[in-house]
Amino acid sequence: MEQTQAKQEPVRLMDLSHGSGCGCKIGPGDLHEILGSIGHSITDPRVLVGNDTGDDAAVVKVRDDLALVQTTDFFTPIMNDPYRFGQVAAANALSDVYAMAGTPLCALSLVAFPVDRLDRSILAEILRGGIDKAREAGIEIVGGHSIDDAEPKFGLAVTGTIHPDRIVRNRGAKAGDVLILTKPLGAGILTTAVKRSLISPDQEEAVFRNMAALNDGAARTMQRHYGAIHAATDITGFGLTGHLYGMLKGSRLRAVIQMADLPLLPGLDALIAQGCYPGGGNRNYRYVQSVLRFSVAEDMKERARILVCDPQTSGGVLMCVDPVSAADVITTLCENSTLAAARVGEIMEEADGPLIEIR
Ligand code: CO
Ligand code: CO
Repeated sequence: MEQTQAKQEPVRLMDLSHGSGCGCKIGPGDLHEILGSIGHSITDPRVLVGNDTGDDAAVVKVRDDLALVQTTDFFTPIMNDPYRFGQVAAANALSDVYAMAGTPLCALSLVAFPVDRLDRSILAEILRGGIDKAREAGIEIVGGHSIDDAEPKFGLAVTGTIHPDRIVRNRGAKAGDVLILTKPLGAGILTTAVKRSLISPDQEEAVFRNMAALNDGAARTMQRHYGAIHAATDITGFGLTGHLYGMLKGSRLRAVIQMADLPLLPGLDALIAQGCYPGGGNRNYRYVQSVLRFSVAEDMKERARILVCDPQTSGGVLMCVDPVSAADVITTLCENSTLAAARVGEIMEEADGPLIEIR
């Protein structure tokens, strides 16, 4: 008997995931506790950047003029379209190499896919997205590993290179530094709107372009202005304030963020008004709550909280830049066509330990 094939609806990949993109990460507080409980500390002197400072990638010295930058990132679908999901996941994984001012060398793919439940052509499209994005970064995906899993996941393990004396770490901010951000915020809100079918085609295009954009221009800029970039990190699942807190922890510095200067994706306010934002933002808020101060009007507080805690996927690079060089750095970012080159705040002394003030 011939089986009649039901008319196939296109698969919405995001419906298959419990939390999308970097929003599926284990929370920063939880992760810290788990890692602390095993008390692992790195003793190999060749490790120039390890896991103790929560930096974006590890850096291991090979020779006096060469070090490897190692990182991996993978997550559940953040776009419904498999080709786009592949591109975003690859751009996101590459980003941690760029955030250290490194240059990608090669990558391995990490794949989880329900081979019996979903058409294999979907996986082929995810991989094609990853391969194309890696090529845009000038590298090849040279291998990988895949497992059968109910929930699709994709990402890369990336190896990059860097000169051991030109590493940009997440720690090192100085009082007086200007904070510069290289992509607009709001990807968590817009991808939640995709998930809830509340998004316009224009907005969906904007958030895709935002997440798929490589942070290579930011990396080239940091190399060019090396001495002036005191610290940097890329903004991903922990949101602007979560990652900023990671840069300030253990310091006696305060960061001031100017809400009016934050570059934002289109249409966020209407979505926030409808209650459309990801739960991961609340989790991020709880993580930074004790160091966060809002100096904004009472009725603007909720909006500010949601935006500065919004979990990003493949977000921009946040740099702490010597104020003397800030204008030149912004010019170079523009020459390198980063999606934003915005001065969003500054770093100041704080006698009582780190504090993030939202103005
Ligand atoms: Co990172
Ligand atoms: Co990462």
